[in-house]
Amino acid sequence: MSSPQHIVITGANRGIGLALTQQLVAEGHHMWATHRPQADTGALQRLQETARSRLKLVPLDVRNLADCQAFSQSLGAQPIDVLWNNAGLLLDREADITALDFDHYAAMLEVNTLGPLRVIQSLLPQLRRSQHAKILNLSSVMGSIGKGGAGASGYRTSKAALNRALRTVAEDVRQWNIAVLCLHPGWVKTDMGGLAADIDISESAQGLIRMMHNSTLADTGQFWDYQGKVLPW
Ligand SMILES: NC(=O)c1ccc[n+]([C@@H]2O[C@H](COP(=O)([O-])OP(=O)(O)OC[C@H]3O[C@@H](n4cnc5c(N)ncnc54)[C@H](OP(=O)(O)O)[C@@H]3O)[C@@H](O)[C@H]2O)c1
Repeated sequence: MSSPQHIVITGANRGIGLALTQQLVAEGHHMWATHRPQADTGALQRLQETARSRLKLVPLDVRNLADCQAFSQSLGAQPIDVLWNNAGLLLDREADITALDFDHYAAMLEVNTLGPLRVIQSLLPQLRRSQHAKILNLSSVMGSIGKGGAGASGYRTSKAALNRALRTVAEDVRQWNIAVLCLHPGWVKTDMGGLAADIDISESAQGLIRMMHNSTLADTGQFWDYQGKVLPW
C-alpha cells in the first residue's frame, strides 16, 4: 500500500482512533474521520489545518443506522480502500454475575457488536468499488474465549460476539476481494485502557497500521494482535 488510500475511521476524535488518524494523515492518505455528533473534535480540527482537504470530519454515531446510511450516500461513487471500525465502549469492569448492570451490558453490545456491522453494511457499496478493500476492526483479547479471563462480562461478550459476526462477514465479502480482520490493539494508555496500561497510543497505532499495510485477502477472517501475532478465538 504505497499509494494514498481512501480510509474511513469511526470514533476518531480521541484515543486510538485519533492516533490512527494522525499517523495515516501523515502517511498521505485521504481520510474520513467520524465522531459522535456532540464529541469534542478539537484535536481533529487542528489536524485538519495541516491535512486540509485530505481529512474530512463526519458526525456519525455507530448506534444510528440512519447516520451510517447518510454517510454512505454522501460518499456516492467514492471507493473506500480501508474501513477502521474503531469506536468502542467499556462501561463496566464488574467482578462477577452478581454485579451485572443489564442496561450497560446492552449498551456495549449495541456499540461494540452491532455498531461495526451497521457501518460495514452501509459502506459496502464504496468498499466494493475498491480493488482490494480491507475492513479492520478493533476487537480485544478480552473477547477471546480461548484466553479465558474473569469480570467485565458485558465488554468481553460484546467483543467475542463481534469476532463471531466478523467471521461470517469475512465469508460474505470475500467474493468482492474484501479482507476482514479482527485486531487487538494491545493494552493501551487511553481513557478506556487507563494509565496502568502496557503501551502508549502511538506504539499501538504504528503496529495496527503495519497490519493494515501487510495484510492481504489470505489473512481474512483471522484475529491478530497489533504485533502480528495470531490470537485464539
Ligand atoms: N485501550 C485499550 O487498551 C483497548 C484494548 C483492547 C481493545 N480496545 C478497543 O480499541 C478501540 C478504541 O479504544 P480506545 O482505548 O481508543 O477507547 P476510548 O479512548 O474510550 O475512545 C473510544 C472512541 O469511541 C467513540 N465512541 C464511543 N461510542 C460511540 C458511538 N456510539 N458512536 C461513535 N463513536 C463512539 C468515542 O467517542 P466519544 O468521544 O464521543 O465518546 C471515542 O472516540 C475500541 O473499540 C476498544 O474496545 C482498546
